[in-house]
Amino acid sequence: MSDLIKARYTRLKEEIAKHDQAYYLNDAPQIPDADYDQLFRELLEIEKEYPTWISNDSPSQKVSGYANAVFSPVVHGTPMLSLNNALTEEEAIAFDKRCHEGLLSQSFEYSCELKFDGLAISILYEYGRLVRAATRGDGSTGENVTDNIKTIASIPKQLLGSDIPDRIEVRGEVFMRHSDFYELNQLQRELGAKEFANPRNAAAGSLRQLDPLITASRKLSFFAYGIGELSPVTWLPISHSQLMASYQKMGIPVCDEHCIANDVSELMAFFKQIGDKRLSLPYDIDGVVYKVNNYAFQNQLGYVSRAPRFAIAHKFPPQEAFTTVLAIEVQVGRTGAITPVARLDPVLVGGVTVTNATLHNQDEISRKDIRVGDHVIVRRAGDVIPEIVSVDLQQRPQNTQPYHFPLTCPICHSHIEKLAGEAIARCSGGLFCPAQRKQAIIHFAHRRAMNIDGLGEKIVDKLVAEKIISNPADLYKLQHSLNKLVQLFYVNANDSSKQKKGQDLAEGKQIQNLLSAIDGSKSASLARFIFALGIRHVGETTAKDLAKSYRKIEALMDASLEDLLKVRDVGPVVAQSIVSFMSESHNREVIEQLLASGVNPVEVSELVLESPFQDKTVVITGTLPTMSRDEAKLLLEKHGAKVSSAVSSKTSYLLAGADAGSKLEKAIALNITVIDEAMMMSMIDQAQ
Ligand code: IVH
Repeated sequence: MSDLIKARYTRLKEEIAKHDQAYYLNDAPQIPDADYDQLFRELLEIEKEYPTWISNDSPSQKVSGYANAVFSPVVHGTPMLSLNNALTEEEAIAFDKRCHEGLLSQSFEYSCELKFDGLAISILYEYGRLVRAATRGDGSTGENVTDNIKTIASIPKQLLGSDIPDRIEVRGEVFMRHSDFYELNQLQRELGAKEFANPRNAAAGSLRQLDPLITASRKLSFFAYGIGELSPVTWLPISHSQLMASYQKMGIPVCDEHCIANDVSELMAFFKQIGDKRLSLPYDIDGVVYKVNNYAFQNQLGYVSRAPRFAIAHKFPPQEAFTTVLAIEVQVGRTGAITPVARLDPVLVGGVTVTNATLHNQDEISRKDIRVGDHVIVRRAGDVIPEIVSVDLQQRPQNTQPYHFPLTCPICHSHIEKLAGEAIARCSGGLFCPAQRKQAIIHFAHRRAMNIDGLGEKIVDKLVAEKIISNPADLYKLQHSLNKLVQLFYVNANDSSKQKKGQDLAEGKQIQNLLSAIDGSKSASLARFIFALGIRHVGETTAKDLAKSYRKIEALMDASLEDLLKVRDVGPVVAQSIVSFMSESHNREVIEQLLASGVNPVEVSELVLESPFQDKTVVITGTLPTMSRDEAKLLLEKHGAKVSSAVSSKTSYLLAGADAGSKLEKAIALNITVIDEAMMMSMIDQAQ
């Protein structure tokens, strides 16, 4: 029996060492954190039973982690330790009991904080100046990452205030916020570079860059939670919470989510409170940490090998789990974006059953080589759609096939196309694809497109669901479906009086208004019509340029790529998008039907617009966010304004940017309307 256990013990040591290497050195974990914790616990249990087996190379005897030889080593003055975990309430209660026993029933309090899911960092300040920063490494030797740490904006290079010790080593966690993580992975996707499995790996990968410029381009954050070296030692406050308050005064980032707990019930209340808001926090945490607050009591409790006795990490249920990919399907989004989705064997992840995971795009599937039948790790983070972290290649069943992305849309069978430089594949069905139809109709009717008043999202929803319309051309046939419209507008009308009222209204009011708005849109300009078609990359300005160049929609329908490239501001991406749209026969049919129903888009030469700036006097001050003051002046003059340099009672508007000074003060004193660049743009836009 003990032979079997010994074999298991040896295997556990090897497994843990392998996973440590994958996690710490390669920033690419192969198993969920909770499974790692489980292996570790099993190891500890065997060691408790057979203490003589414990050797120096046991993972229980050292702090997990690796120092990469590429960075110069930093020997930590005092080791950077790890925390023991409590995975259940009972274990947290047992921790509290041990503390009480160790402190011989003296009364004490806990400081409760978050367990950030990033990487531990030591930052040394001498006479207030940041002089060195290092990773934890193996606990005694870390990697020198000073230049990289200096690129993190929130970490002070110089401490604030006058109460600063000569030498202080601040310890804490570097991590990446969700928004920065998604932005980074988006960029990685666009660059065709490796995506990061989770924010922790992204933070570690970004910090351990040999080129600090790369670190600088990644947005990292930091929270302090501890202290290493200190001189003079008399500077130390009496408790951990007071140290955090001093850090804050010195400008060192400290997390706001902390509290003092006086007993175990208050610890549990904190655990519950943070657990409830965990998924809405802007960064990952994997638990909370309870620390005996008073330093004298901390010292009394001391340490056992790799972790303090005075603190514990109370972990949340895992947010990652193993499951199997049952199928890979694609979904068509509102704009035709094709998103592959993995259908999963249902699995509980952090208390929620997960059955689907997003696979983002084609490249992501190829990069991770995700196949139907694969065993995978799924991860849930915040309120985002679950995703697949990695595939367990060792468990891949035989005869699995690499996944091939479909060539045609599963809904409308139009071609799926991927434009150069884009990660997302799209259905080219445009107006024809039912998945895109509704959105296309809403866009078509938009105020800035065909301007069909009264055709909002709710009505389009109903019209499409009842199959009364399926493309924009059907809008112009609605007058033939009056009965259906009446039923639709009063769908819940089950008593005769409401029905009657509906018919009354149909005769003159809401429905009639809608029908006349549709009729009125027949004379929309060619620019509006082109914009209304919803061709990808063709916004209002491009539509205006195209209208000016082609003057008739038929000419645009037959334009070649070379031709289109001659139009002002039309580049290869836009030109290709127009050619693809016009080459789909469904799109041409819809346009032809529109023309046949009496839609008559003609190019109108620049209209004289009613501008809110016509004959107004505007003064510009400060730095505008996107344009120079000269550019703003030209734009305003184009819209009929007179731009003057001094504020007076005759000034109509003050256009103010950043660091506006005396002109702003004067304008406020004279009660003159102050606008910013965005407001100016929206005033101009609305007039068009
Ligand atoms: S205190 C002596 N406090 O968890 C205790 N650690 O498993 C040293 N961590 O390496 C750690 N949040 O990277 C402490 N509020 C917190 C923490 C925290 C995250 C990490 C840290 C450490 C690991 C220990």
